[in-house]
Amino acid sequence: MTKPTIAARQPAEVTLEAGKTYFWCSCGLSLNQPFCDGAHAGSGFSPVRFTAQNTDTYYLCQCKLTDESPLCDGAHKVFGQTWDGT
Ligand code: FES
Repeated sequence: MTKPTIAARQPAEVTLEAGKTYFWCSCGLSLNQPFCDGAHAGSGFSPVRFTAQNTDTYYLCQCKLTDESPLCDGAHKVFGQTWDGT
């Protein structure tokens, strides 16, 4: 697998706890988006480990095109333009 699978075309709004470690799904195959469930095995992708700095609402990327993983950077907006996501 050379490209990640698009799990959704918008970010996931999640509440994260300060100091807690999370694993963001980078392959798009997890059934527990936006978090890793181990489905990346054999895909060549690895989850992104991160620790929340504050207890707050975060918008985590689900299109897997962000350059600021695990956060949405607006890259999903390409779907509203010309790219069909394949
Ligand atoms: S959901 Fe991927 S950049 Fe917004």
